[in-house]
Amino acid sequence: MKPAYPLQYRAASLPAYNANTLRALLSIRITEKTLLKLEAGELLIRMAAAPCNPSDIAFMQGGYNVVKPLPAVPGFEGSGFVADIGEGVDKTWLGKRVSLFIQGDGDGSWAEYVVAQAGNLLAIDDGLTTDQAAMFFVNPFTAWGLMEMVAEHGASCILINAAGSRLSEYLLALAKERGVVVIGVVRKEQTAAALADKGFAALAVSTDEDFASKLIDLFAQHQPTVFLDAVAGEQSGLIAGLLPFNSKMIVYGGLSGKDVSGVNALKLIFNKLTITGFDLNAWFASSDDNTKKRAAQQLTAFIAEKKVHNPVSISVSLDELVKGLRHYLGSMSEGKMLIRF
Ligand SMILES: NC(=O)c1ccc[n+]([C@@H]2O[C@H](COP(=O)([O-])OP(=O)(O)OC[C@H]3O[C@@H](n4cnc5c(N)ncnc54)[C@H](OP(=O)(O)O)[C@@H]3O)[C@@H](O)[C@H]2O)c1
Repeated sequence: MKPAYPLQYRAASLPAYNANTLRALLSIRITEKTLLKLEAGELLIRMAAAPCNPSDIAFMQGGYNVVKPLPAVPGFEGSGFVADIGEGVDKTWLGKRVSLFIQGDGDGSWAEYVVAQAGNLLAIDDGLTTDQAAMFFVNPFTAWGLMEMVAEHGASCILINAAGSRLSEYLLALAKERGVVVIGVVRKEQTAAALADKGFAALAVSTDEDFASKLIDLFAQHQPTVFLDAVAGEQSGLIAGLLPFNSKMIVYGGLSGKDVSGVNALKLIFNKLTITGFDLNAWFASSDDNTKKRAAQQLTAFIAEKKVHNPVSISVSLDELVKGLRHYLGSMSEGKMLIRF
């Protein structure tokens, strides 16, 4: 049944950006919002679930490239169904289960309802649960885009850090499918232990005393020519310094909160090392519909065939959001925090 307007609904609201993560998340309030009507071309999504990703944390800190007018509703992805459509929208969208990706500076997905455009939605395959659909945009498509770059570079072995992440699961699945060997770096022994039988050629723990010498051995053995960096800081320079001739470092995250540092200038000049970035928003905007469709099909198949597991470590109601965020920040490798509406 179509909702009646004006539509009242609840949403998380961030009053101010705060570089202190804890203060930022403690400042979140649940507020009532009102939607007077749906404009032409808009779709109203009744949200079912939405996760927290590192980009949401960076957003709350004011350290992300998306800066919304305050107070802001956070959340860059989620799942739900199309509850209503504005004038001019294809009627077949009505009632469809969808994954949602929010790119602009409008309200985010941590809300009972979200107003979206068709270009930000994917109709969800019956094989995906609501939870899986809620996490189907940000990490899966980033992994796809990164692996396109790996293929363009012709790498047969890659090194990834933050290897206990959900994104890493997709990278590993895609790499296996394409015969690419993966070396993983994590920061906790327990994460390395949990990943031991997942199919990495080797795992190194960055907090181990012998991390640098272990890396040297691993490079001698496997010669990875692409380094996918989600951490940055000094680790970037350490790993970049070991990359063989004609390698590529692709920075797609800054989990350490630090600048990429320690990259040797001579390595760039004489060793043909290139450093570049990856941004999903840009990839999405520049990729054609066929590419996105092909990616969506294969990524859906990975989930259906349990090649990726996408664990959820805690699911909470909107009112329990702060509890959920605290849990997620304390054990990110265990799985996502999911808000269920
Ligand atoms: N560029 C893009 O367009 C794009 C798109 C999507 C995702 N990303 C990036 O991809 C990365 C992974 O995202 P995700 O959603 O898959 O993450 P996730 O599942 O939430 O897991 C985060 C992972 O990062 C590790 N980690 C956190 N802080 C760290 C630090 N300071 N040093 C080393 N490891 C750290 C965590 O390990 P612990 O368990 O040890 O905390 C955990 O394994 C993030 O950096 C995210 O911003 C970028």
